[in-house]
Amino acid sequence: MALENRAAQIPGPKRALEVTSLPANHPAPGEILIRNHAIAVQPLDAKMLLSGYGGAGALQNYPALLGTSGAGVIEELGEGVNGLNVGDRVVFDTKAYVKPDVNQREGTWQRLVICDARTVAKIGDVAFEQAILVDFPLQTAVGALHLFLGMGKPGTGSVDEKVLVWGAGGAVGHTVIVTASPRDKERQKALGASEVLDYKSSDVAEQLRALGPYKYLFTGSGDAASQKVLASLLQPEGGQFASVLGGEVELPSNVERVYKAFSQAAQQDEQNEFRAWWYSDYLPRVLQENLVESAKFTKREGGLAALQQASADVFEGKVRGKIVVNPQE
Ligand SMILES: NC(=O)c1ccc[n+]([C@@H]2O[C@H](COP(=O)([O-])OP(=O)(O)OC[C@H]3O[C@@H](n4cnc5c(N)ncnc54)[C@H](OP(=O)(O)O)[C@@H]3O)[C@@H](O)[C@H]2O)c1
Repeated sequence: MALENRAAQIPGPKRALEVTSLPANHPAPGEILIRNHAIAVQPLDAKMLLSGYGGAGALQNYPALLGTSGAGVIEELGEGVNGLNVGDRVVFDTKAYVKPDVNQREGTWQRLVICDARTVAKIGDVAFEQAILVDFPLQTAVGALHLFLGMGKPGTGSVDEKVLVWGAGGAVGHTVIVTASPRDKERQKALGASEVLDYKSSDVAEQLRALGPYKYLFTGSGDAASQKVLASLLQPEGGQFASVLGGEVELPSNVERVYKAFSQAAQQDEQNEFRAWWYSDYLPRVLQENLVESAKFTKREGGLAALQQASADVFEGKVRGKIVVNPQE
């Protein structure tokens, strides 16, 4: 029987989504076809849809599909794919935002998505929503801290390495990562951070300075104020911090801001070792042992047709936590 595919397509820059039928793609060697059951609307998706932001050139041709992450069930395997089977439950990331020519095949705002078999993690019986809510923000945080700032992999740091995460209320910033023996897991999860400060308080920079110095600094909100505070904490020696956002922010000349598409880290071929570790070892373990508390989410009914309003709500800052949509509805 022919597979039926439907997608929420953007017809052109700043145009509203149109839900339409699309041909089902079939996997080339090394790829798989996944029936997608979960989309989490990320701030980046909302900006691309509503402000026309091109996301590093991802949307060069229209109609286009948004979304780089999904969670679902494997429908077909391409030639040469090992270790995965039809029917496996998986979470996955695609190149839809880093390789514009694959956007229509790999954008995840559709029911049937093509994905490179190397960027897929098995999730066992973990809920699709839980899997997608952990993968994208956690990969952003680990990508920034480990790959780009040089911190050890989660669980390998030493106790005297202080880490400062600004914006722990967001999905990216709140992914505090520890390893502990199973009997200590609940306590560790409850503990999370060693100190929690209010980023809105007027003397937050002084409070942070008193708790430092920090070996690794990361802003998970990326706003200009946070970048300035982190730069000030690096004085007088200077140094670097990672930020989820760029922008025109005046920073001292002895400070380097590391701003990358951290969420797409595993899509880069030079990160082969990280990619293999992330999808085959770390992410399945984090999900199945429930090592990271995911962001809170609201399930929005209505399938692909719900994505336009959901994106507007995210764009306007009306949502706490994430909105998740099931494209099969
Ligand atoms: N570069 C990358 O690879 C990458 C990847 C993912 C996301 N991002 C970007 O990172 C940003 C955050 O994404 P997200 O998914 O974490 O968003 P989110 O889950 O929607 O986070 C929003 C929350 O962050 C907190 N927050 C907002 N402004 C803040 C500020 N100025 N200082 C500290 N905390 C603040 C607020 O929580 P409280 O007020 O309750 O604390 C707010 O509810 C977005 O702009 C997104 O586009 C970049």
